[in-house]
Amino acid sequence: MRVIILGSAAGGGLPQWNCGCANCRAARADGAGRTQSSVAVSADGERWILLNASPDLRVQLAAHPALWPRGARGTPIQAVMLTDGEIDHTLGLLLLRESAATLPVYAPAGVAALLGAEWPLYRVLAAYAGVDARIIPDGGPGGRPLQLTNAQGESLGVQCTAFPVARRPPRYARGATAATFDVGLRLRDERTGGTLAYIPTAGAVDDAVRAAATGADVLLFDGTFWADDELRAAGVDAPTAREMGHLPVGGPAGGIELLPRAGAKRTVLVHINNTNPILCRTSAERAQVEAAGLEVGEDGMEFEL
Ligand code: MLT
Ligand code: MN
Ligand code: ZN
Repeated sequence: MRVIILGSAAGGGLPQWNCGCANCRAARADGAGRTQSSVAVSADGERWILLNASPDLRVQLAAHPALWPRGARGTPIQAVMLTDGEIDHTLGLLLLRESAATLPVYAPAGVAALLGAEWPLYRVLAAYAGVDARIIPDGGPGGRPLQLTNAQGESLGVQCTAFPVARRPPRYARGATAATFDVGLRLRDERTGGTLAYIPTAGAVDDAVRAAATGADVLLFDGTFWADDELRAAGVDAPTAREMGHLPVGGPAGGIELLPRAGAKRTVLVHINNTNPILCRTSAERAQVEAAGLEVGEDGMEFEL
C-alpha cells in the first residue's frame, strides 16, 4: 500500500491567513508552508482513496503525478473517506464537483447526517456528479472489516476497520444529536498485509486508539497542539486543546508520553496547527518529539506498507 501525506497542517494551514505567530511569519518569509490535513492511499498505485478532503485539495492533487488524470478526462481517485465532519477535512469535496461520475464517500454515521443537513455538502453536490454516501460502521475491535470499493463496486484492495475516538461534534453543529463524529481508521492492504492507522484527531490515547494502532506499520496521529493552552497563549480566544478534542503532544499524559506505548511500529504526527512549536526544526519541543522516537509529518511524505 502506497501512502502519501498530501497535507500535514491542521485547519488554517501554514501560514494561516490571519495569523502572525512565529511559525506563520517564518513560513511567509521562506515560502515554506504546509497544506491542510489529507492523506492518499492506494493498494495498486493506480486507484487511490483520499482520507479527508481538505480545502487545499486542488494544489495537493496537482503536486502528485500519481493523482493526475490518465487520459483526456478522469481521475485515479476512486473514493473518499472522512474521519470527521470538520470544515478542514470536508470542504475539499466541493472541489471535486467536476467529477464525471458519482463519487463514493465513506463517513461515520454522525458525519453523513451533518453533510446532508447542517453542512449540506451532499445536498449541494447532488446538483453536480453527486455523492454515493456510504456509512463507516463503528467497527471496534470485534467488528468485521469493511471492504473498500469504487463506484462500480470493485474492490480497491484495502480493508478498513473504524474506531470511534474521543471527541465532540464540530463547532457548527454543537446541538447535533449524539452520534459518531470522529473515527480512527485501520487500513490494511489485502495483498501485502501492510497496515496504516490513521487518527488525525483524537483527545486521548484510549482503548480505541490502541486497538487501531497495535501492530500497525505506521500510525499517523493528531499532532495539532503542543500545549493544552496553546491557542490562548497565542492570543486567540479559544478552548483548550483537550476541550477541542486534541491530545496535546507535550506535557504530562501528552502524546510524547503515551504514543510510544500505543503499539505502532512507527508514529508520525499530522494535523499540526500553525502555532505548534514542533514545526520549528530547531525548537526544544521538536527535539523532545524526536527523542521520544516520534516523527513530525511533512507534506509529500510517503510510505510503502
Ligand atoms: C479541529 O480539528 O479541531 C477543527 O478542524 C477546528 C476547526 O477548524 O474548527
Ligand atoms: Mn481539524
Ligand atoms: Zn500562526
